[in-house]
Amino acid sequence: MRAASSEAASGVPRGLVRVAILISGAGSNMVALVRSMTGDHPARPVLVLSSDPGAAGLGRAAAMGIPTAVVDRRGFGADRKGFEAALEAAIAPVAPDVICLAGFMHVLSPGFVAGWTGRMLNIHPSLLPRHRGLRTHDRVLAGGDTEHGCTVHLVTAALDEGPILGTARIPVLPGDTPESLAARLLPVEHRLYPAVLRRFAGGDHEPLHLEG
Ligand code: GRF
Repeated sequence: MRAASSEAASGVPRGLVRVAILISGAGSNMVALVRSMTGDHPARPVLVLSSDPGAAGLGRAAAMGIPTAVVDRRGFGADRKGFEAALEAAIAPVAPDVICLAGFMHVLSPGFVAGWTGRMLNIHPSLLPRHRGLRTHDRVLAGGDTEHGCTVHLVTAALDEGPILGTARIPVLPGDTPESLAARLLPVEHRLYPAVLRRFAGGDHEPLHLEG
């Protein structure tokens, strides 16, 4: 039973899936997700939470009328448990059903992830299982890959290894640089993540594969 106050606070009608979005920076994927959750979409955003007080995504979320919060990762140093306890404390009041990591630049502990099993999604800028981790555009080029892409997956304790919910592919073109790949991939991420969230919130967990 959800606390009435959180329902009233966020104004999300009963029965809709409540989504908290975690960011660390520009928040362009967050904007795409928020913009998609309208009309007959089965989900609504209830919080945008940033690990960086300077994240541009915070202003973008506020401009769209979405409640925001900050848990500054720098304030916790090596204390990941303390950071994650603060994340949970910021998330609990809005009682989300689903968490979407969108440009959230921190690896969450198995303990935190275990509390959101099957309910936490992430978008990763590679075609998983290839190129888990960071600097994926550089690694695609270094590996001579002929295609690149992005993946939305459920978050599990192992980094970038959870069940895949969607992928979108783009070609690697002659002369591509990490920057040109990132620039061509980002708009494709903005199509994939909202499409996957809509299906997921509607109860359809079949993987979705898009051509970029
Ligand atoms: C995106 O490339 C996303 O794949 C990765 O973080 C980057 C920045 O995303 N996780 P955003 O503009 O902050 O959504």
